[in-house]
Amino acid sequence: MHTVYFDANVSDDLRRQRLYDGQIFVYSPRPSTIALIDHARTMIEEAFGGLDPKLAQYEMSVEQYVEIVAPLKPQFIHHPKTKGLIQDILREFACDLESTYLDVPRLRMVTANNYLTSGVGYAHHPHRDTWYSAPMCQLNWWLPIYDIESECSMAFHPKYWSQGVSNESHTFNYYDWNRNGRKNASQHIKSDTRKQPHATETIELEPQVRFVCPPGGIVLFAGAQMHSTVPNTSGFTRYSIDFRTVHLDEVVNMGGAPNVDSHPTGTSLRDFMRGSDLSRLPEEIVAKYDVGVDQAPEDALIFTPATIKA
Ligand SMILES: [Fe+2]
Repeated sequence: MHTVYFDANVSDDLRRQRLYDGQIFVYSPRPSTIALIDHARTMIEEAFGGLDPKLAQYEMSVEQYVEIVAPLKPQFIHHPKTKGLIQDILREFACDLESTYLDVPRLRMVTANNYLTSGVGYAHHPHRDTWYSAPMCQLNWWLPIYDIESECSMAFHPKYWSQGVSNESHTFNYYDWNRNGRKNASQHIKSDTRKQPHATETIELEPQVRFVCPPGGIVLFAGAQMHSTVPNTSGFTRYSIDFRTVHLDEVVNMGGAPNVDSHPTGTSLRDFMRGSDLSRLPEEIVAKYDVGVDQAPEDALIFTPATIKA
């Protein structure tokens, strides 16, 4: 049974419990989420210099498009306002900032008609974030920045909540990914050779569920949900923001969603910062997640988005 809770007025504890049970929460835009997407829109629209960002792909070569959006992604992450806006969202959603840890928000664009499907515009195959070394307690918050259609949204494949599939997550190591995969994203324009964990059996994409919410609406789900990027046939580029949270209780207990098929090595937990003061999780807690790793390598523990040239 799958339930979608719409604008549910429940405590964060109960909400997390339901999310770890495979349910999904959808929220209408609120002042804090509108502030975040306004901030993103300003940055996107400045970068495109007056072109409509949803249609800019039709005005330039894919190389030019990548030249504009590739720097935009780290700029958004590093912008001094961005983290504060996420903290405001968590506050408005009744999360306890002392025990809720957040990861930096990602700005994503999914262009239409296979214009750019690799590198910075990578369209995600069906996956769980937990195949990519996310802890089982990770929650994902996803917001569209402009109006979207079903044809450019995200798809959930709910039958796989409790049904494992054979997949390559056992070959995925988070620290190798930090070293190699992400830094090179903008070099992958025509094809993508980064080693991503895929299912090794056929995933039945149907039944699938998509959510179309207004700009600044939120789809909140467990990182263990099987989800994918819908091949964009809407005719325009989709822009969205996503960020992740974990709660200290589940981090300490190693709780969260049931693990049906995720076996990566390394952990993304060191990326998370406490909502109140942006401090990192205590190393002795995180170290418990380094199963299968002899020694976590100092130089690649944390995802470091490319720094921006001023
Ligand atoms: Fe994902």
